[in-house]
Amino acid sequence: SQYRVGYFVGSLSSTSLNRALSRALIRLAPESLEFTELPIGNLPLYSPDFDSAYPPEPQALKNAIASSHAVLFVSPEYNRSIPGALKNAIDWASRPWGQNSFDHVPAAVIGASPGQIGTAVGQQSLRSVLSFCNARQMTAPEAYITAPPGLIQDDGEVTSESTAAFLKDFMQEFADHVARVLTVLPRS
Ligand code: FNR
Repeated sequence: SQYRVGYFVGSLSSTSLNRALSRALIRLAPESLEFTELPIGNLPLYSPDFDSAYPPEPQALKNAIASSHAVLFVSPEYNRSIPGALKNAIDWASRPWGQNSFDHVPAAVIGASPGQIGTAVGQQSLRSVLSFCNARQMTAPEAYITAPPGLIQDDGEVTSESTAAFLKDFMQEFADHVARVLTVLPRS
């Protein structure tokens, strides 16, 4: 495969819908992409006090982003914003000042909710954060997934053909986006 994608799952739930969505996306992605999870559940809470000496988990996160060609965010919406655990991970990766791991990194955002607006508001919040972090976001297509029970099974099987086709197209668009960005901004 051509491109290494590090992906964030914004939920710590053991029954996470968004983790199931991440599995669906990996199954439906073109072969040019290979995936590594960027775990957020064991990170301490960020403090600038750590800037002089990052603990192992956040340092591992920064290293993993550095060795990825691109990042993908698969996250629920919490209270019309992003989960605190995900924001904490982004804060860690964005620091120390001058060593922002997201600088110029190709990125995409997607999420699922049982609710009708499918994480749209949470994604706007996430996009603001990633804009400030200077990630090269795919702006379209957007993907707001309303997921009633059974639509996305735990193993990533998508039971609706039209939803599977939509997610497949999203991942192809993401691969195209990554290729375009890396043409101008190569990452080794
Ligand atoms: C939610 N949920 C939710 N849903 C939504 O569509 N908009 C929202 O703002 C919120 N807010 C919210 C806050 C908190 C603290 C929780 C625990 C939940 C419901 C949420 O979409 C649902 O629990 C999903 O299943 C969460 O995704 P995961 O954890 O299953 O991936």
